[in-house]
Amino acid sequence: MAYAPRPMRDTSIHSPGAPRTFRVRSYGCQMNVYDGERMGDLLAETGLAPAAEGEDADLVVLNTCHIRERAAEKVYSDIGRLKRADGSRPMIAVAGCVAQAQGEEIMVRAPAVGVVVGPQAYHRLPELVARAASGERASDTDMPTEAKFAALPRRRLAGPNAFLTVQEGCDKFCTYCVVPYTRGAEISRPFNDLVLEAEMLVEAGAREITLLGQNVNAWTGEDAAGRSIGLDGLIRILAKLPDLQRIRYTTSHPNDVTEGLIAAHGEVEELMPYLHLPVQSGSDRVLKAMNRSHTAQGYLRLLERFRDARPDIALSGDFIVGFPGESEADFAATLELIDAVGYAQAYSFKYSPRPGTPAATMPGQVSREVMDERLQRLQGALDRHQLAFNAASVGRTCAVLVERRGKRPGQWLGKSPWLQSVVFAGEATIGDIVQVELVQAGPKSINGTLARALHHA
Ligand code: 5AD
Ligand code: SF4
Repeated sequence: MAYAPRPMRDTSIHSPGAPRTFRVRSYGCQMNVYDGERMGDLLAETGLAPAAEGEDADLVVLNTCHIRERAAEKVYSDIGRLKRADGSRPMIAVAGCVAQAQGEEIMVRAPAVGVVVGPQAYHRLPELVARAASGERASDTDMPTEAKFAALPRRRLAGPNAFLTVQEGCDKFCTYCVVPYTRGAEISRPFNDLVLEAEMLVEAGAREITLLGQNVNAWTGEDAAGRSIGLDGLIRILAKLPDLQRIRYTTSHPNDVTEGLIAAHGEVEELMPYLHLPVQSGSDRVLKAMNRSHTAQGYLRLLERFRDARPDIALSGDFIVGFPGESEADFAATLELIDAVGYAQAYSFKYSPRPGTPAATMPGQVSREVMDERLQRLQGALDRHQLAFNAASVGRTCAVLVERRGKRPGQWLGKSPWLQSVVFAGEATIGDIVQVELVQAGPKSINGTLARALHHA
């Protein structure tokens, strides 16, 4: 079992030049945030302390994202700027997907980097840091299956909501995407490990758990009785954990949606009415060139089934504008799809050619100007829908999980079941679930008032 007490490993960092404090900076997706937290747990286990807010760290881990060009280039500029107040450089470790894709190049281009570690090898981070501390630059971008999770220490947790990676990697090979190359093949973490980690998170104060995976709904495993189950089965079992009030999952792929998962949205009270289901484009021609293996109609029909099971479900997605060959008519089809769905919230990106992916060398690359202009129109449409969704919630009283203090004294910030940010004033404690009446909607958040009568009911 992954979290049974393990014999002490000699991963402590002894040498005189060894770092004493660390900071992890995570970029990109929520899975990177999870990985960043786990790297922090590991470093803390070896005796390093997290650097205090505003103070220089001896070791800085850049947990990088390679999904778009700009994200990758940021790594080099960050490395250049990493200096301490006294002008010296901290030890720099580059982790994440850029490390995986460009580890060798980083070592050549950035002599200040002492450690390179890929997303499937970061359980070895303490050893690599120890090697770097003794003057040897160290790199590990192996992709051992499953070794990583089993080697990680207990979870430490600060807030009421936690991430739990249940699935990693991707076998879908969308033609624009680097993930199958940087994160490797789809793997599901074993059921027992996940239940143990979830129990640990709840014990540490989590009231909401978001199950993470590049294709989270491709998760499969065997329950305690040896029956084969999917993500919906896992959700149903985790929902029974006492004190775990909310479950979310992200990111899903349309092709891995099952009847059971749709049904769970209508049956499992702890499963929040929110679905992030990327579609990328509303044009079948573009979807085909992207190797998405679903059509726009097929996607819309799927969403209808979710809505039948859970009529108030908030829908979210991802969009790419300017995929090679995208015509104005293709783009118009995307806008049409957005209007047909009425997303509560969504992410949109300009297509970014990634070296080694099939789309990077496709004919019909779209100019930057056209991409800029399409992105603006697309984001305009998404903003309109987001505001309309928020405005339609006004008047509702709903459960809000209190996450942190707001900017003004006495103010609190939390999330509605539909993942809207809700700001309210009054008496509350972080981790509480309180009843709030939603009174005024903005594009990014909603103001509410604490509904005392309901709270104590
Ligand atoms: N260019 C632009 N956006 C991309 N995404 C993935 N690869 C690229 C790329 N090369 C977007 C997709 C995906 C999200 C995580 O990032 O929309 O769903
Ligand atoms: Fe990338 Fe497509 Fe896999 Fe998502 S499903 S990670 S976009 S290849």
